Amino acid sequence: MIGLIEQDFKQRRQRLARTLKEGVFILCTAPQVIRNADTHFNYRWDSNFHYLTGFKEPNAVLLMIIHDGLSQDILFCQPKDPDKEIWDGLRLGPEAAVEELAMDEAYSIHELNDRLSHYLTDQTTIFSTWGNKSPLEESIVNAINDIKSRARQGVSAPSQWVDVLSSIHEMRLIKDSSEIAILRHGANIAARAHNRSMLAIKDARYEYEIEAVILHEFKHSGADAPAYPSIVAAGNHATILHYIENNGSLNKKDLMLIDAGCEWQGYASDITRTFPMSGSFSGVQKELYEIVLDAQMKAIDCIKPGIQFNDYHLCAVRALVAGLIDLKLCTGTVDGVIESGDYRRFYMHRTGHWLGRDVHDVGQYSVEGQSRRLEPGMVMTVEPGLYIRADSSVPEQFHGIGIRIEDDVLVTHQGVEILTNQAYKTVDEIESWMNQ
Ligand code: GLY
Ligand code: MN
Ligand code: MN
Repeated sequence: MIGLIEQDFKQRRQRLARTLKEGVFILCTAPQVIRNADTHFNYRWDSNFHYLTGFKEPNAVLLMIIHDGLSQDILFCQPKDPDKEIWDGLRLGPEAAVEELAMDEAYSIHELNDRLSHYLTDQTTIFSTWGNKSPLEESIVNAINDIKSRARQGVSAPSQWVDVLSSIHEMRLIKDSSEIAILRHGANIAARAHNRSMLAIKDARYEYEIEAVILHEFKHSGADAPAYPSIVAAGNHATILHYIENNGSLNKKDLMLIDAGCEWQGYASDITRTFPMSGSFSGVQKELYEIVLDAQMKAIDCIKPGIQFNDYHLCAVRALVAGLIDLKLCTGTVDGVIESGDYRRFYMHRTGHWLGRDVHDVGQYSVEGQSRRLEPGMVMTVEPGLYIRADSSVPEQFHGIGIRIEDDVLVTHQGVEILTNQAYKTVDEIESWMNQ
C-alpha cells in the first residue's frame, strides 16, 4: 500500500525537534479562501503543516514544546460540532486526533489563545513563521505581551522568534522511500493523461476538450486535483509560457503543447509533452523537436549526485544553442551565443526546479553563493524548450512553434530515475502511438 501513516509524520516531527533542540515550535495550516459571496475555493492545506501532521482540516495549529531535542506534540483543531458537520462534513476533533495523528495532546482551536501564553512562559525561543500577518502571528504577539505584563511575577517571555521554514524545507528537499513511491504513482497518472490526450486530439476541436481529458484521467485515478493550472496550448499559444485560457480552436497542422500534472496524496507531478495534432511531425516541427529532445536527454544524462543544480541547465542550453546555430536561427559559435545570451529570444526560462509537495518545491538552490550539489533523494524537473512566436523576425516556417519536453527525475546513488518515463516522448513513440 502506497502512502504515509501517522508514525511517518511523528518521525518527521521527531527529526525536526532534534534539529531545533530547545524552544516552542508553532505552525498553522492554510486559511480557507473565499471564492465569491459565501463560497470557498476548494480547501488546500499548507504543505509544511501537512508534511508534519498528515492533517487535512482547516483551522488547525501544531505546537511542539521541545526540550533537549525531544518534543511534546500538541494539536489544536476544530472541535466536534454536529450542527456544523451536517453542512461541512465530519471533523476529526481533538479527542480522536491524539491517537489518529499520534499527538501527545490535542485541544479545540478555540483554546489556543488562552493556552499560548502558558506554553510560551519562561521559554527563550519561538520557532514559527513570521511576517505573514496571519491570525496565529497576532496570537503569538498577544501571548508575548501578556507574559511581559506579568514580569513582576518573575516570569519571562521568549526573546527570540526564529523563522523555522528553512529547517522544514531542508527536510522536504530530500524525499524518503514512501514519498518516492507516492511521486512515482502520481507521475504514472499524469503520464497516462498525456498519452490519452495524444489520442483524444483526433476528435477534438478546442483546447478545453483536451483539458477535460486530462482532468478526467486525474480524477478517475484518485488524484486530488491538478498540481497547477493545466496548460493546453495549440500552435502559437504554446509560445506563451503560462498560457492557461485553454479556449482556442485547433488547427490540426500545428503542434500542441500540454503542461499538466496532478497532485496525488499531496505530491505533485509536472509533465510537458508536445506533439503534432495531425499525428505526424512536419519537417520543420521535427527539426525543432529533435533539438529540444536532444537537449532534454543530454540534461538528464548529466544528472547524478555531486553535480551542481545549475549544471544540467548549462548542459541543456549548450545543446539548444548548437541546434539553433544549425538551423541558422542564431549565428556564431556555441560559446559566443551562450555568452551573448542571443538564444534567450527562443529559450527564456531555466531548465528545472525542485518537485515535491509543491510543484515548484521548497529547498535552496544555492548554498554559500554556489549552485547546490545534488544528493540522492532530490527530485526535480528537466524541461528545456524552444518558443518561436508568430511575430518573430526569423523565417516564417518557424513561426508559431512552441516546444517543451518536461520529465520529473529522482537523483539516485547511481544517477537518475525518470519518474515520468511512461509518457511517450520520442518522435517514433509519439507517431506510432497516435497512428495505432
Ligand atoms: N508547470 C509549471 C512548470 O513546469 O514549472
Ligand atoms: Mn510543467
Ligand atoms: Mn516544471
